[in-house]
Amino acid sequence: MISEKLRKAREYEQQYAPYVLPESRPAYHLTPMIGWMNDPNGFSCYKGEYHLFYQYYPYSVQWGSMHWGHAVSRDLIRWEYLPCALAPDQPYDNGGCFSGSAIELPDGQHLLLYTGVRCQTAEDGIRQEVQTQCVAIGDGIDYEKLDCNPVLDAANLPEGGSPFDFRDPKLWREEDGSYTCIVGNRPADGSGSLLIYRSEDAIHWTFDTVLDECHNEFGKMWECPDFFPLDGKWVILTSPQDMTPSGLEFHNGNGTLCLIGSYDEGTHTFQREELQSIDYGLDFYATQTLLAPDGRRIMVAWMQNWDTCVVVNREQRWYGQMCIPRELAVREGKLIQNPVRELEAYRGRRVFHRVTVCQEMTLQGVYGRMVDMTITLHPVENDIYQLFKLKVARGSQHDTTITYKPRTSVLCINRSNAGFRRDFVHERKCLVRRQNGELKLRILLDRFSIEIFVNDGEQALSTTIYTPLTADGISFECFGQVLAEVEKYDLIVEQSDSTATGEPVRFHQSVNEPQ
Ligand code: FRU
Repeated sequence: MISEKLRKAREYEQQYAPYVLPESRPAYHLTPMIGWMNDPNGFSCYKGEYHLFYQYYPYSVQWGSMHWGHAVSRDLIRWEYLPCALAPDQPYDNGGCFSGSAIELPDGQHLLLYTGVRCQTAEDGIRQEVQTQCVAIGDGIDYEKLDCNPVLDAANLPEGGSPFDFRDPKLWREEDGSYTCIVGNRPADGSGSLLIYRSEDAIHWTFDTVLDECHNEFGKMWECPDFFPLDGKWVILTSPQDMTPSGLEFHNGNGTLCLIGSYDEGTHTFQREELQSIDYGLDFYATQTLLAPDGRRIMVAWMQNWDTCVVVNREQRWYGQMCIPRELAVREGKLIQNPVRELEAYRGRRVFHRVTVCQEMTLQGVYGRMVDMTITLHPVENDIYQLFKLKVARGSQHDTTITYKPRTSVLCINRSNAGFRRDFVHERKCLVRRQNGELKLRILLDRFSIEIFVNDGEQALSTTIYTPLTADGISFECFGQVLAEVEKYDLIVEQSDSTATGEPVRFHQSVNEPQ
């Protein structure tokens, strides 16, 4: 049975999404069908396809009462929109269907575990938002919320836990067929903690343990947690709010945190060994992973950040994009991320140059805004250059500059000239591995973003740019001299659906039937 709110959202999508022209969107980064998108949700394999839901407000390009948008893909690059999956239509989620995850059940159904936000007014008149975890089960298009919702509420919190910050459940199936989920919470010290719950059926849950706690050290509340084994280690990913900077590792505001360590499955204790940011760019938050059928651990994230989403072009009918899905690994205590290999199937014309760069130069055939380019820098003899400078999305008035100083090992991205007219953060620096001026950068450009993968995935930096698409120049410069190998492919991705070409999205007939 489709509620009035969900019907309204689906009708709005059908009516207005065809006006969102494909050229107004990124070519291979997922954007909302229409309106606003934040966190990835329910990233899962279901019946042989990848499903990716997202925090969604179809009616505006700003955050509003949260629905779940929905898209499906066979290769994580080309996405087809499905109708809005969840609307905030129940007393326990009238304040929004917040982030959560999904899994295919043994009986072939698709289960969504999400945070229901209930608005209530306390005795003193203060408005409160109570957060609980809820389940909806469906067939990959339509989902039914369970009568027994919420399945986790204040009664399931450890002592001191806050029912007002209790969100973003991520669930997975254990080898024995039981289920585990991890949920973010705010304990008595006002910062963040990660709670583990266990279940036999993914519906009835019991509290197990506090996996890790912030203790006011890495920001405050820890949002969107994830926890999985990888390459002999265990990895926690989370997105802390209200961080303070720590060198070039963590920046102010909403950040990301990766904890790598060991896990004693008998006593359910996690022992931290290493920690780092997940992404060192300007726009990245709220990661979620899935385990692909071929064993790859694949991560997506919102390629935006609450602190950087202050500029919305009102003529644009969508806002928010996902990063390129990334294959994860752990190598020498570090999280390694690289674009999913499926992207390589979309490489078009190849251009290669091996050139000594000193003063500013352009290279024949090296330009574009939908590009997969790898630049490898080698110092010339033992002469360490002072600065390497790369400009992308360059036009007569615009550019985004990436610089590298081998003496300090600082890589910097600066989008001050990308065309933004607001004074929010436009520059981010990070420390890369010190290696005497050798550096490898793989750079993905889509129409409105830049993602940089450093030294085969040792670090990633993601940044949005809304520079006019006519600014498609790329230039190279060096203070000193450096030998650069530049391999560049155009990326040619035509989205399969598309609502904008008049093809209907996959709606069940019931959408148009009277209730
Ligand atoms: C993270 C977040 C989540 C929450 C959702 C609401 O970006 O704040 O904690 O579930 O966004 O849209």
